Amino acid sequence: MYPFIKSIHSYFAWAALALIIIAIISTILTKNKESVSYKKWAFFGLMAVHIQLLIGLTLYFLSPFGLDNLSGDSMKDSFTRLLAIEHPFTNIVAIILITIGYSQSKKAEYGSKKILVFYTIGLILLLSRVPWSTWLS
Ligand code: HEM
Repeated sequence: MYPFIKSIHSYFAWAALALIIIAIISTILTKNKESVSYKKWAFFGLMAVHIQLLIGLTLYFLSPFGLDNLSGDSMKDSFTRLLAIEHPFTNIVAIILITIGYSQSKKAEYGSKKILVFYTIGLILLLSRVPWSTWLS
């Protein structure tokens, strides 16, 4: 079960990050304030990070690098600390910001600005705590 969920989390990360990037680009390309096409991409991005959150939460309880690794010793090592604390916590904050951005965009006069700001901060947070060394190796 663990290798399967880890593999899904690993591959789905591409989709989640790509859709957030496309949503941001789509707001930048929205010249006409009346245009609503960016909303479609913002919605797909939101869905993707929420699905990734559910897969990540499941993985946290299955992985030897998740909950099982919460100990004083693992906090001394930067890689084990990244997987047990920094990656989950930062990504949850990023997903909350993306969700706030999406919901605020519905109320704002120019919703694309809210998407641009919140999704960009969320993306920076997500990218800052991806375990690049294991993911791309
Ligand atoms: C959009 C949000 C997220 C993205 C893009 C993401 C991406 C990734 C990536 C690329 C890896 C490395 C996979 C590999 O080495 O093959 C990973 C590992 C991991 N992620 Fe996430 N993640 C996200 C959210 C979360 C959340 C919210 C949690 C937990 C609450 C979580 C828990 C984990 C754990 C425990 C691992 C280590 C798995 C292992 O090596 O055993 N992730 N994540």
